[in-house]
Amino acid sequence: MTNRVIAIDGPSGSGKSTVSRAIGQKLGFLHVDSGALYRIVTWQGLLHGVDPNDAAAVAAFAGRLAVEMTAVDGAVRFSVGGVEPGDAIRTAEINAAVSPVSKVPEVRAKVTAWLRDLRRLGDLVVEGRDIGSVVFPDSPARFYLDAAPEERARRRHLEEQAKGLPKQDREAVMASLLNRDRIDSSRAVAPLKVAEGALVIDSTRMPIEEVVATVISHLPEEWREP
Ligand code: DC
Repeated sequence: MTNRVIAIDGPSGSGKSTVSRAIGQKLGFLHVDSGALYRIVTWQGLLHGVDPNDAAAVAAFAGRLAVEMTAVDGAVRFSVGGVEPGDAIRTAEINAAVSPVSKVPEVRAKVTAWLRDLRRLGDLVVEGRDIGSVVFPDSPARFYLDAAPEERARRRHLEEQAKGLPKQDREAVMASLLNRDRIDSSRAVAPLKVAEGALVIDSTRMPIEEVVATVISHLPEEWREP
């Protein structure tokens, strides 16, 4: 039997990471942050002098890039040449460059193939933008989390502060987030959108536990117990 996949899509700050980590822990599914793979391609590209707006150069670079993927403590961890990126993939520079990089069809094809291959490691809860629409459209467990932009910017800002990342004010966080939303939603290949048949959950005023409980209550019955 192929391993099971729970797909959690949505824009930045919609609560995907917190919710998908919590579900993974509760049910014993490995957590996969697909955005981290797009960020790793971007990070490595910048380190190697690739212009993120040069689609042909980005495509050629992504074709050569190897990423190691291993299951550790309930999540899939990524590294390049044995080095885990940590917060190096969460900087303002990566935030600005990752949307143009993730528009490149060859990059999307590569990340999609990586994600599908991860099923060999176990049951997965995968968060991203196109997981239910493109990567795992056959999964019976596909969700789309959303929240008002102000609330999403507030969450991202708190997250960045908690991580001790260089200070950006709330307006700057909001502008960068809205800009990524715009590029992610309008790109030609696999734009951010609600997959047909996915359940939409608006988390603007919902505590995280309630979002987690809502997702779990909509899973196939036999998936709900760890
Ligand atoms: O979730 P995140 O902010 O770490 O995602 C970073 C970028 O990667 C975001 O601009 C959109 C892109 N992305 C994507 O295109 N498809 C995914 N499945 C996940 C992320």
